Amino acid sequence: MRLVNTQSQYVRIFDTTLRDGEQSPGCSMTPQQKLVMARALAELGVDVIETGFPASSQSDREAAALIGRELRDTTLCVLSRCLPGDVQASARALEGSAKPRLHVFISTSALHREHKLRMSREQVLESIRSNVALARQYVDDVEFSTEDGTRTEEDFLQQAVAVAIAAGATTINVPDTVGFTTPEEMRSLFQRLIANVPGARDVVFSAHCHNDLGLAVANSLAAIEGGARQVEVSMNGIGERAGNCALEELVMALKVRGAFFNADTGIDTQRIVATSQLLQRLVGMPVQRNKAVVGANAFAHESGIHQHGMLRHRGTYEIMRPQDVGWPDTQMVLGRHSGRAAVEARLRALGYWLEEEELDTVFEQFKALCEKQRVVEDADLQALMQDGAESQGYRLASMTVGDAGHRARATVELSDPEGQRLFETAEGDGPVDALFAALASATGVDLKLESYQVHSVGLGADARGEANLSVRYEDREYDGTGTSKDIIEASALAWLDVANRLLRQRSAAKSEAVAA
Ligand code: KIV
Ligand code: ZN
Repeated sequence: MRLVNTQSQYVRIFDTTLRDGEQSPGCSMTPQQKLVMARALAELGVDVIETGFPASSQSDREAAALIGRELRDTTLCVLSRCLPGDVQASARALEGSAKPRLHVFISTSALHREHKLRMSREQVLESIRSNVALARQYVDDVEFSTEDGTRTEEDFLQQAVAVAIAAGATTINVPDTVGFTTPEEMRSLFQRLIANVPGARDVVFSAHCHNDLGLAVANSLAAIEGGARQVEVSMNGIGERAGNCALEELVMALKVRGAFFNADTGIDTQRIVATSQLLQRLVGMPVQRNKAVVGANAFAHESGIHQHGMLRHRGTYEIMRPQDVGWPDTQMVLGRHSGRAAVEARLRALGYWLEEEELDTVFEQFKALCEKQRVVEDADLQALMQDGAESQGYRLASMTVGDAGHRARATVELSDPEGQRLFETAEGDGPVDALFAALASATGVDLKLESYQVHSVGLGADARGEANLSVRYEDREYDGTGTSKDIIEASALAWLDVANRLLRQRSAAKSEAVAA
């Protein structure tokens, strides 16, 4: 049965990116990196940041102290096993914190008790009692977690939770440690715990779900339906094995389906993408393109039917606005599946308003281009549009670049504005220098470069080099761009782009003078 509330319930966001997330393979962070991430999480509006596990390493202790000195408004939490040494190490790490929380956990399931802890039920209960009480001697805010809680015999789980509450725990976290539970089981488990455990109504119940079956978000939402008022999440869902409940997915589910869940968080959703990208850079782990909310494709549309629908009404294929989570806008990716309407819309955004017939021609050229490359970028469309003008200028037919002793040698074959073939060879200090010298000598245009840059556009098999040049000529600046799979060829195309622009400019100036 769903909880029916007329008033929206506040759900605390407990972020464990820096603890459960950081302890997963490939995600470790230095204390300084944790501080950078903690600042971003605080700005994002999380209620609690779990900064680490002080008993486990010097680095975790340093990170807790460093973050504690700086972040004064967010509750900062550290993890401890139910061992006095761990609890004391955590208490020391929290000493400088303005809002400290001590998190104590022990496994409660029969499997863990028998094989991992080798402890009886009574020993586990006694350990909970003494360590939660010890933690309360240091701080008022104590969280207790029943590791492998969802696979624990329910009578024992209830006893463990009752003992922790009686010993002073203020938050009770029930983890689905191995991501085994289903949403229905989760919802009813929380309902029963809250209804039956003595003192349950005086504490906050929390869910901590792992994603082994891809159910971490669904299970966390179900726990909220069952009465949980804190969820433990990580940015981009990083965490042990398949990870934890992804912050961005849970928060947006609560926001987009607010009327259904009747629950809300304090997250500034417009900061989600920036925070996600910061984490991706810090740990060097990009999210997959189709990752919900923060993946590159989350608001990208390529198919003609979808693009057409989106151009008519964005609600046809988007349930949230990209700006609500921090993306600049929806992305209409132009590729093989795109239709005329999307190409026309993109051309208009670039300033080209075409007649029907012109659009037919450009659309045919666009389709031909899509046979060669997966994605057609704005620069490609601009190149298509400039085709007419470019045919009046110099065009690159072929080029070779190689060694000439200590120097480089380039040979270029061009067609000139009248269609005549030109060949030229030149040497230079490097391949690009030689190439530009050959182009200058073939065209008779001597360009004085102000800047020259190359960078990569696109990803993986579709990646291409883009070269950008700028030159100053008679007090005017001319920019040129060239794109190719080969960065040397991209550089030649950029050089010719500038030279042709300059020539067009000169011939336009001449025509104006004659007309005058
Ligand atoms: O997954 C888990 O059970 C945990 C606890 C230590 C909270 O991470
Ligand atoms: Zn965990």
